[in-house]
Amino acid sequence: MIVAVANQKGGVGKTTTAQALAAGLAERGYKVLGIDLDPQGNFSTACGAENYNVPTVYEVMKRAADIGEAIQHMKGGYDVVPANIMLAGAEQELSQTGKEHRLKEAVSAVAGSYDFVVIDTPPSLGVLTVNAFTCATDILIPTTAGIFATAGISQLNETVGSVQRYCNPGVKIRGILFTRFNPRANISRQIKELTEQLSEYISAPIYQTYIRAGVAIEEAQANKADIFDYAGKSTVAEDYRAFIEEFLKGVDM
Ligand SMILES: Nc1ncnc2c1ncn2[C@@H]1O[C@H](COP(=O)(O)OP(=O)(O)OP(=O)(O)O)[C@@H](O)[C@H]1O
Ligand SMILES: [Mg+2]
Repeated sequence: MIVAVANQKGGVGKTTTAQALAAGLAERGYKVLGIDLDPQGNFSTACGAENYNVPTVYEVMKRAADIGEAIQHMKGGYDVVPANIMLAGAEQELSQTGKEHRLKEAVSAVAGSYDFVVIDTPPSLGVLTVNAFTCATDILIPTTAGIFATAGISQLNETVGSVQRYCNPGVKIRGILFTRFNPRANISRQIKELTEQLSEYISAPIYQTYIRAGVAIEEAQANKADIFDYAGKSTVAEDYRAFIEEFLKGVDM
């Protein structure tokens, strides 16, 4: 299963969710490859991957390196293909038609060695995110509360629709995950409102599990550790563990 974690809105928890998913699935014994497809390189940094003077996803997509050369083994038991700012050039360099298949081509060489491939995407709906959707079997959408967050989701849904039409008919939105909830707010009311707002824009399943906001996340990322390792008993770790359970229930393995 190849999961693209996407939302063109910035700061909604894509990278955090991608890392928790990769680490949490690896902890359960699955073979996992995480791919950083964001020029910001946050996923690479948070995982503790090298992303300078090493082959990255950029060289892989430019066919200047084999994906095998770019794969690094993390202490959390999962593998990572890193990214850095060079990938920003890919938006220009890979914009001609046919280039939306570059990631898929590269990943297909190694996909058989993994149970899950988790792709972290940038906060845009450009050629990188389209490459992720073309490569993926499933799309996971993290979102925070708020009208701007929900309005953007209809645009995201349209991009998924055009990838389905032209590049990858089988890809589907597996679910929407609510993240960064203020644990002191009336969460059940917020969830109800958010669900109603979203249903105007998209018909996709919403995970029952939601992720509360907690300081442990930033601390873990600053320490290049995953949330389960760094603060396994924190509410955020608890929420992500529950999410992974729910995620796995819907997956045939
Ligand atoms: N549940 C949470 N509780 C508290 N802080 C969080 C939580 N999830 C994410 N954050 C923090 O919010 C910020 C944004 O999260 P993250 O980087 O995962 O979002 P993103 O969608 O990947 O952002 P971008 O669009 O820039 O790639 C980070 O500083 C992260 O540490
Ligand atoms: Mg990110």
